Amino acid sequence: MTIDRTSVHAALAGVTRVYPARAGQQPVHALGPLDLELRHGEFFSVVGPSGCGKSTLLDVLSGLAPPSDGQASFEGKALGDNVPDGIGVVFQEDASFPWLTVGDNVAFGLRRRGTDPAEIRRRVDYALGFMGLLAFAQAYPAQLSGGMRQRVCIARTLVMQPRLILLDEPFGALDQQTRLLMGDELLRLWRETGATVMLITHALDEANLLSDRIGVMSARPGRFIAIVETGWSRDRDSTLAEDPRFGAVSSRLWSYLRPESLRALGQQVPAAAQSADPLMSAAQ
Ligand SMILES: Nc1ncnc2c1ncn2[C@@H]1O[C@H](COP(=O)(O)OP(=O)(O)OP(=O)(O)O)[C@@H](O)[C@H]1O
Ligand SMILES: [Mg+2]
Repeated sequence: MTIDRTSVHAALAGVTRVYPARAGQQPVHALGPLDLELRHGEFFSVVGPSGCGKSTLLDVLSGLAPPSDGQASFEGKALGDNVPDGIGVVFQEDASFPWLTVGDNVAFGLRRRGTDPAEIRRRVDYALGFMGLLAFAQAYPAQLSGGMRQRVCIARTLVMQPRLILLDEPFGALDQQTRLLMGDELLRLWRETGATVMLITHALDEANLLSDRIGVMSARPGRFIAIVETGWSRDRDSTLAEDPRFGAVSSRLWSYLRPESLRALGQQVPAAAQSADPLMSAAQ
């Protein structure tokens, strides 16, 4: 099947999310209003200051949490308050089940779906192999490193063959070298499956290396202040970091993000740092 890479796969229109007031506290306006259109088969990353609403954005786009205002849709259907078939989520925190082996963690979703046992075995073996975890199928999460546990979570999502994969800082627990290699694996997965990927990351170089487009978010309440197109070829890998154009894209990302990060820290932003970069396309 050929994918029309310009068509919209998932969208947010005028979305806001406000967490209601709790015992003596004010409501928290975490997100928006914002618009986003993810195109079929693209690799889109989101960067933004800590606490700006990135995980909240993922909750809304996955269907886990309804927007307070506006619409969220996937494949033309409105998202409600559960994650539909076709969307796979890797959460920011380690969400592996400690009481299940690695193999059983990965098989969990397929068993719940009532998939044929032979098919489960085939898919679980593939996903474990893909994530370099075959030798650990019988181990429990507590016997693994943080980065390996995160790989279990990615395998558990991958095995469901999602058409849209949402990942929230999946490599946060990894060292720089492993991050680079896992990024290459993620690119391979993206190419082989044809899935649409949205990755949240705090690492600008990672966003740059992996993405077709990068959305830069403002301080809370998070909105997109710029959408940057990288123009990299589909068969890129971490050697792209040596390309002189790579540094230019990272600097542009930082020029947008810096004032927002300062704002998020509650510091004063020098007037010069607030000027827009004409090289970047404006946010939709
Ligand atoms: N369940 C909740 N109830 C109330 N406020 C919340 C809740 N979850 C998040 N928030 C608030 O919403 C804002 C956005 O949080 P969110 O977790 O989306 O940010 P983030 O960009 O993912 O941060 P980080 O980069 O640290 O992961 C924060 O101010 C946070 O305190
Ligand atoms: Mg977060």
